[in-house]
Amino acid sequence: MKRIAILTAGGDTPALNATLFGAVQRANELGVEAYGLVKGFDGMLSERLPHVRLNPLFTTIPELDPCIGGTIIGASRRYIDRDDTETLKAVSGRLERIGIEGLMCIGGDGTINGMQPLCDLFPCTLAPKTIDNDLGLNHIDEPNEWIRETDDKGAVEYRHTMSRDDVSLSEIVNYVTPGYATAVFVVAQSIDRIRTTAESHRRIAIIEVMGRDSGYIALGAAYGQPDMILIPEVELDYPKIVERVRHLYDLQKSAVIVIGEGVRDADGQLGAKSRSVDPAGNVIFSGAAERLADILSQELGDGYFQKNKRHDTASAAIFTRKLGHTQRGGRPILFDRFHAAQLGGKALELLIGERNNYLSTLKWKEDAGFTLSELSANQLRDRWGIIHAREVHPSLYDESRFQPSKLGRAYLEPIFTRAIGHEDLEVLHDTLFSPGNLVTRHQSVNVAMQKRIQYLD
Ligand code: F6P
Repeated sequence: MKRIAILTAGGDTPALNATLFGAVQRANELGVEAYGLVKGFDGMLSERLPHVRLNPLFTTIPELDPCIGGTIIGASRRYIDRDDTETLKAVSGRLERIGIEGLMCIGGDGTINGMQPLCDLFPCTLAPKTIDNDLGLNHIDEPNEWIRETDDKGAVEYRHTMSRDDVSLSEIVNYVTPGYATAVFVVAQSIDRIRTTAESHRRIAIIEVMGRDSGYIALGAAYGQPDMILIPEVELDYPKIVERVRHLYDLQKSAVIVIGEGVRDADGQLGAKSRSVDPAGNVIFSGAAERLADILSQELGDGYFQKNKRHDTASAAIFTRKLGHTQRGGRPILFDRFHAAQLGGKALELLIGERNNYLSTLKWKEDAGFTLSELSANQLRDRWGIIHAREVHPSLYDESRFQPSKLGRAYLEPIFTRAIGHEDLEVLHDTLFSPGNLVTRHQSVNVAMQKRIQYLD
């Protein structure tokens, strides 16, 4: 292969440029021309096929900096309909016109689905990304644990029937995904900041973190030492939660609770009221923290807070913070930069080797640490072809303590113990309050990249 295309699709992560960088560096070494397709699948769906040469003269363009978050080639949540053969043919024809022989996608499960129909037209591979850390399997047989059910109204639902009480960390497929570590870094720091104000004002803070149906970000939040962590995988047990909150508040006059945005109770999704669907078919989560705050206010009651003259009302004592997109942005920490670049290089190699529909993955073993591996995308699918978000395995979470279990802690340690590089802190020290920031406007990478974009016509 002499010329390949790369795109970044789905929600961004801080490590996308690092993955791109690793891929382009490998392309340089192999003498392969790398083109970036602009705005994910959106770019290839455009008749003008906006694209950028990422390595003219086999030298990586200076805008591609692995230390900067986001993606210089843009991303979108638009995908190609696999049944739309006309569009697929048109896309393939357009790519052929600029001499593209293969496609490397950087994305998650939605991107694999978007890439799938293209695999029949030319070789495609994937480098994984998602802050949610939900792309992978707790063990290789996990897709077979899903069953399909149809309700009275004919709606199809998939249910996970766990066949294993525990997992061994070395059998986890794609142990961790670039973007996750930086998201947890942001969460842990935020908890630290919210805690001191909650303590000072005798308040209960409910901090909502991203992750959709998967509780990995919430689990990692344990580094910020929240008093309780509630994950979407475990149905909320209100009497137990209220009892624990009371105990904590009586003891320390404050409490910090982290919840995954997809938490659910016996009636379903907590934040389901404002539920809508984005173009990729993903549910957009909102409102879980507010809903839990309402429930706690009702259960504890104003009197509980008035008793010790701490607050006039329960609603004044309980506040919520949704950390939102801060988890997805900014400089990636060392762990993400390093492994993202490696996974990008590996996915590029898989593409050149025509390992069609494969993805690069990371595995972990006690004696070897993290090593690169690969997986056929098909192995992520259940028997009906669905890729389910990887859930936090029950053995990683201790329901009685609302904290990671012993195995959960063992899962987190290899990722985070040395995740922050000294240079990550030096950069902060040297740049945040630089007087130059007050003078010079932020120079958007989009302006620089616009000058490099080429079109078909
Ligand atoms: O999948 C990544 C993610 O950040 C989720 O954690 C979150 O629910 C969602 O994307 C938010 O998407 P958007 O940026 O489209 O609001």
